[in-house]
Amino acid sequence: MDRSALPAGRAWWRGATGYEIYIRSFLDSDGDGMGDLAGITAKLDVLDRLGVDVLWITPFYPSPGKDQGYDVADYIGIDPAFGTLDDFDQLVQAATDRGMRIFVDIVPNHSSDQHPWFQHAIADEDSPYRDYYLFRPAAANGGPPNNWVSHFGGPAWTLDPAGSGEYYCHLFLSEQPDLNWANPAVMEEFREILTFWCERGVDGFRIDVAHGLTKDPEFRNNPQVREVTPGMHPKDVFASFDHVHDLHRPETTKIFETWRTVVEPYDAVLLGEMDVRNIERFTEYVGGGGLDAGFVLKLASSRWEPATILSDLLTYERAALGGAAWAVSNHDQPRAVSRYGDGQVGARRAAAVTTLMLALDGITFLYQGDELGLPDAVLTGVAMDPVSTRNGGAAGRDCARGPVPWDSTAVNGFTTAPVAWLETAPLPESLTAQGQIGEAGSTWERYRAMLDLRRRLPDLWSEPFEIFDRQATSLVIFRGPLTVIANLDDKAFEFVPEGEFHIEFESHAGAVGGDGGHLRIEPEATIVLSRREPDGHALAGLAEVAHGHR
Ligand code: GLC
Repeated sequence: MDRSALPAGRAWWRGATGYEIYIRSFLDSDGDGMGDLAGITAKLDVLDRLGVDVLWITPFYPSPGKDQGYDVADYIGIDPAFGTLDDFDQLVQAATDRGMRIFVDIVPNHSSDQHPWFQHAIADEDSPYRDYYLFRPAAANGGPPNNWVSHFGGPAWTLDPAGSGEYYCHLFLSEQPDLNWANPAVMEEFREILTFWCERGVDGFRIDVAHGLTKDPEFRNNPQVREVTPGMHPKDVFASFDHVHDLHRPETTKIFETWRTVVEPYDAVLLGEMDVRNIERFTEYVGGGGLDAGFVLKLASSRWEPATILSDLLTYERAALGGAAWAVSNHDQPRAVSRYGDGQVGARRAAAVTTLMLALDGITFLYQGDELGLPDAVLTGVAMDPVSTRNGGAAGRDCARGPVPWDSTAVNGFTTAPVAWLETAPLPESLTAQGQIGEAGSTWERYRAMLDLRRRLPDLWSEPFEIFDRQATSLVIFRGPLTVIANLDDKAFEFVPEGEFHIEFESHAGAVGGDGGHLRIEPEATIVLSRREPDGHALAGLAEVAHGHR
C-alpha cells in the first residue's frame, strides 16, 4: 500500500488492515501436517490481493508446544517444524517486496520450562537465572505461597521440581514459568531479543499477555469476588478473583516505556494483548503508557448482542485515542461466525461488524479464515488445547484453530500429510479459498472489497468521527464526505441522504435497497456511502433517519 497517501502526522499503522496468521494452521509447505513460514510466503500474493497490510504471525520459536508455541524455549530461534531463520528472512523480504509488514508475537510474561534460563534456575539455586523467575517459599502449611490461580486451571504455583521446597509462579501452565520483570537482567535479555527481531526487519510486536509481566512485590492474595465451585471452567475460576496483585500492575507500563526506547529507532510498533476489564486501564497502556495500540479483546469474544457490541465499540473508540486493534476473531475464542449464530447468518453479522471496525481509527485485524466466513472447526481427532486436555475435556480453543481450507482435496489442501496436526472435519468447496477467490458474490470477494475501502477512502478512518444517529442497535456516523450506517438490528430502517450519493460498499449483497433518495438498510448490515460532491460542510441536517419504518 502506498502510505504516502495517508494523512500527514499519522503513525503508519493507523488505518492499516492486519491479518492474524495462526502459523500451525495456515499452510503446510513440507508435508509434516504443521503450517510453516514457507507456507506463509507461498500465500503472500493471495493476502496482498485480499488487501492485507500487516501480518501478525503467532509464535514460531523453538518450543515443546505445550501451549502451541506460547511456551518459548528460545526467543531468537525458529522451531524446525516451522522452518529456519533463512525462511524467516525470505518471508520478510517477500512481504517487503509487496509493501506488507510483519509483526511477530513476543511472549514476555513467561518462558517454557525448557528454556535454558529455567533449566539453570532449577539446577542451581545460586544461579543468577534463579531470579529470572518467581520462586517463593511455601506457605506455613506447605502449600502454595498465595491464592493466585492459573488461567489454565489449578493454582498458579508449582513446587520446584529440583526439590528446594520453593514454589514457582505460572499464570498459565506449570510448563510456562512466569518471568521476574522486577529483575533488570530480564529487561536486558528482552532488549536483545527485541533488537534481534527489529534487525531482521520486523515492523512490530504483538505482545502476549501484555497486562501480566509485573507482580505484587509482596505476593499478596488476590481478593476473591465469588465462590469457586468444583467443576468450574478454569476461565470462570480465574474470573472469581480480582486480579489486582498478579495482573495490571502500574509498573507494567514503565516496562513498555523502556521497550519503546528499544524499538523506536526501527519505527517498530508495540501492540499489546491486554485483557482489560477496566477501560481506564486500556487508556493507561496506549495513552503514553509505552504501547502504540492494544487489542480490544472483548469484541473477539462477545456473542451476537448488537447493543453490547455497539456500545463496546464506541466506548473503546473513545478510550483508545486511536490506539485500538480491532478484531472479531482470534485464535483464543470461538470464531465470530459461530458466536454470532453460524452459517450464512453468522457470516453476515461478522461482515457487518468488521465493516464498522474498518471505519474506526486504529488497526483492524482479520483472523485467518474470517475472509472465507469460516465457522468453528469440528474436531475429529484428539483435542490439543491444554485448556481442554488438562481440564477433563472442558471447552477449549481448538475450534478456532482448524487448518485453513485452501481447496477441496484431502485435508482441504492444507497439507500433503494424511492428517493435519489438529484433525478437523473437512469443509465444503464453498468454504474454501479455491471456491471463493475470484467468484463473484463470495465472502472472500466481499472482504476484498471491504478491505479496499480503507485504501480507496482513507477518510473512512481518519476524518473526524461524528455520530449522526445512535440507537441501541444502529449507528450512523460521518467521516468527512463518507457516511457509515451500521444497522445491527433485526429490522430494516430508512435513511434519507441529502443530495447525490454513491453506495461505496454494503456488507452483504442486497443490504441496501429503496428508491429515489430513500434508502432501506436491511437488518444486520453496514453500508458506506459517499457524497458525490464533497463540500465538507454542514453535515448535520444533510441526512435523516426514519426509525419509524421498523
Ligand atoms: C495469550 C495467547 C494464548 C496463550 C496465552 C499464554 O492469551 O493468545 O494463545 O495461550 O497468551 O501465552
